[in-house]
Amino acid sequence: MVGYFRRMAIAAMIIFLSGATPDSVLAEISSDNAQVRALNISHRGASGYVPEHTFLAYELGNSMNGDYIEIDLQMTKDGELIALHDETIDRTTDKKGLVKNLTLKEIKKLDAGSWFNEDYPDKKNTVFTGLQIPTLREVLSRFGSNSKFFIETKSPEVYPGMEEKLIDILNEYNLTGAQPFGNVIVQSFSAESLRKIHQMDDSIPLVQLLSYYAPAVITDQEVRKIKEYAVGVGLHYTAVSPGYIQKVTGSGLMIFPYTVNEKEDMKMLLEWGVSGMFTNYPDRLDEVIQMSSLGNS
Ligand code: G3P
Ligand code: CA
Repeated sequence: MVGYFRRMAIAAMIIFLSGATPDSVLAEISSDNAQVRALNISHRGASGYVPEHTFLAYELGNSMNGDYIEIDLQMTKDGELIALHDETIDRTTDKKGLVKNLTLKEIKKLDAGSWFNEDYPDKKNTVFTGLQIPTLREVLSRFGSNSKFFIETKSPEVYPGMEEKLIDILNEYNLTGAQPFGNVIVQSFSAESLRKIHQMDDSIPLVQLLSYYAPAVITDQEVRKIKEYAVGVGLHYTAVSPGYIQKVTGSGLMIFPYTVNEKEDMKMLLEWGVSGMFTNYPDRLDEVIQMSSLGNS
């Protein structure tokens, strides 16, 4: 049974990477399914070890074999896209306020590292003090040539024009169009935001994030709607079940649970056939993926 789920996940992945039809993909993988492995996505960078959404976190994620750097986007008062999870600066900097009320100049003065030393004294390091919040442009300039990005439009209803800005910036860095396909994936909880992006540029692979308060269930109609613009879904890993994964991947959509930090959970989800997962500990996921590919070879 595990093999079935894995085949479906691999089928979805190959459809995504090659544009092939489900039938041709299934035929292709029936003889060899060892070519594709689950994606390791550094959630806010390697944020289990260092302050999230800093260059340090992204560098560490890459060095731990993360395939993608996950970036949450917020937009400043003067229209700059920045890498930050929350709508406010309260939790992860030394000041308080809403990002939408602050200019980039004001954002750049914030200390985005000291909070981590206070919250996690066992992981404390003086190099974290004074780290800056990066802009999306800065991240792409620094990591663009040798990294892949899983970018989330956060609170798009608060930031009119956010999608246009994002596409302009991706164009600036040659990250749209047929090549290199999949170097940037855009995700959002907002279907409206994703549909807007899809209308502007249908070459960008999109992932619909979904919220569930109970074990996840998805209808055929929901799957059909999501497939109009997206190549995959993301959801909290505790809501995932083998049946859900089977339904989603069987329809040709990929599935990316978040945020998976324990090896036992990673192992289980891989066996169930997820397409990849978000983790604050990409080194742990790398180990689990390596072990599972050894076991399946
Ligand atoms: O993008 C997947 C996951 O990051 C969504 O949750 O709150 O960490 O952005 P959050
Ligand atoms: Ca996110």
